[in-house]
Amino acid sequence: MTDNGPAGGMIGKVAVVTGGGGALGGATATLLAARGASVVVADWNLESAETRAKAIVAAGGTAVAVGGDVADDDAVERIFSTATEAFGGVDIFHNNAAAVHLARSDGPVADLTDEVWDGTMDIGLRGAFLCCRTVIPLMIARGGGAIVNTSSIQALIGDTWVPAYSAAKAGLLSLTRSIATQYGRQGIRCNAVCPGLIPGVRTEPDMLERILRRQPVGRSGRPEDIAEAVAFLASDAAGFITGQALVVDGGLTGHMPTYGDPVTSPLDAPAAR
Ligand SMILES: NC(=O)c1ccc[n+]([C@@H]2O[C@H](COP(=O)([O-])OP(=O)(O)OC[C@H]3O[C@@H](n4cnc5c(N)ncnc54)[C@H](O)[C@@H]3O)[C@@H](O)[C@H]2O)c1
Repeated sequence: MTDNGPAGGMIGKVAVVTGGGGALGGATATLLAARGASVVVADWNLESAETRAKAIVAAGGTAVAVGGDVADDDAVERIFSTATEAFGGVDIFHNNAAAVHLARSDGPVADLTDEVWDGTMDIGLRGAFLCCRTVIPLMIARGGGAIVNTSSIQALIGDTWVPAYSAAKAGLLSLTRSIATQYGRQGIRCNAVCPGLIPGVRTEPDMLERILRRQPVGRSGRPEDIAEAVAFLASDAAGFITGQALVVDGGLTGHMPTYGDPVTSPLDAPAAR
């Protein structure tokens, strides 16, 4: 038996999710709670964290909300002390907050401002590091734990936009491997998920159309797709997996466009079936 079952498999575990008031973090918080974990929903938008925590509790789960900026040392201390005070420690950490609100200004490298570069790195990479630095000793004190960092497929391939975001997400993959290497013998596993496009409030219709045309899986990605991958990597079912990046992108980065996009490929023509 593994602890990744659909219900009750995470009973007794304590999880912290940063950016838990948002789409992907919220879905992870909900899924981990549905499987029995006690969850700390952390977000600098306290109202959104409270809304998610209340929904989890209303569904019969256990959750508390905490506000705080992951790029602020004191706030990070507060996020994790909430977990130890409310639930006695931390077993699972979904390191998920990022400066997605800066993406619109994160344009061509020669035009990029210091503010956008620094702000993106400050939240997406330094903030992620501050959280790991704080949670690692707490996990060691519990005999181990699992960290899942939210990177992105932007960390793996180039794009015509978001160079700062992509660099922060690539740095997060490197941090993932360092933590896995340095703390594996103390029972800590550290992996990353690399989501493809998961449409949300910021997604422009033409962006979604461009992605869907090239994405082999013929539907939009959903926050729950990422939550399932995070829950798997955080579970004992993934006990032999560490230092890895799991791409969850509907196959977008698994192919080249040389002979056409998936929907226009010769294999899709009626004669080829
Ligand atoms: N949605 C996608 O297509 C996609 C793709 C790849 C990676 N990601 C990554 O997934 C993660 C979640 O993104 P999302 O799509 O759910 O966006 P979202 O905006 O719905 O959620 C992000 C949450 O993080 C919070 N946040 C931002 N900065 C913070 C800070 N400094 N401290 C604390 N909380 C902070 C926001 O308030 C928000 O609730 C991010 O790391 C993002 O880079 C998203």
